[in-house]
Amino acid sequence: MSSDDDAAIRVVNLTKTYRSGDADLTVFSRLNFEVARGEKLALVGESGAGKSTLMHLLGGLDRPTEGAIYFGQNDICTLSAADLAAFRNREVGFVWQIQSLLAEFTALENVMMPLLIRGQARETAEPLAMARLNEVGLRSRASHRAGELSGGEQQRVALARALVGDPGILLADEPTGNLDFRTGEMIMGLLEDLHTARRLTSVHVTHNLNFARRADRALALERGQLVPVDFAESAMWESPHV
Ligand SMILES: Nc1ncnc2c1ncn2[C@@H]1O[C@H](COP(=O)(O)OP(=O)(O)OP(=O)(O)O)[C@@H](O)[C@H]1O
Ligand SMILES: [Mg+2]
Repeated sequence: MSSDDDAAIRVVNLTKTYRSGDADLTVFSRLNFEVARGEKLALVGESGAGKSTLMHLLGGLDRPTEGAIYFGQNDICTLSAADLAAFRNREVGFVWQIQSLLAEFTALENVMMPLLIRGQARETAEPLAMARLNEVGLRSRASHRAGELSGGEQQRVALARALVGDPGILLADEPTGNLDFRTGEMIMGLLEDLHTARRLTSVHVTHNLNFARRADRALALERGQLVPVDFAESAMWESPHV
């Protein structure tokens, strides 16, 4: 098997420059890395290093200035807007740091949303969404509005929503960032369990080096470069509470 076959994601010469006014900001340039099928990759780095920028590109939420992102044989950077939207809906599940659920909709409706967007009927979407809620231990909260749930419960619903459409890839950008220590531990444990049970390929951003250590591999974004994490050196920006 070639290395291409083993890679779920292959990033080639990826550059992102934000143009705001007359000042350009190159967040990173010519990044190259792969994420192996089934790998759990942690991404760390100081605030402003470009982690979210990279996650948005990996998830097809934004386009690079230059470079390619291969999922299997397909470079998502060449897709039309419609094809990219379909790719996002089918291939990738997202969990973000900030509250991303629709507050006025119930937990169940939030989880069903990716299926409804792809045109699935409510009758078939509902039991699938209920099964995912069950998996994150929130079956009993199905009819609660998302805005009524605690932060930890909202992140569990967000995980259920991310996985309802059976994506191969899970992208999580500081999924525990707004949670207290114990709740953060619980969400990360759940993410790890789902990664294994659903045979996902996962990339998660974290400021918590304990979580990063538990991943299969940890990379740090530093001054526009991706480098393997040196856990001894990085202890200075470790915070147990995020
Ligand atoms: N849409 C944008 N337009 C212009 N500059 C941007 C934009 N989005 C991000 N940036 C800048 O790009 C840099 C990287 O931002 P990014 O959000 O990727 O950092 P991060 O590593 O996720 O930080 P944090 O840990 O605080 O979430 C920052 O300097 C930010 O100000
Ligand atoms: Mg960020």
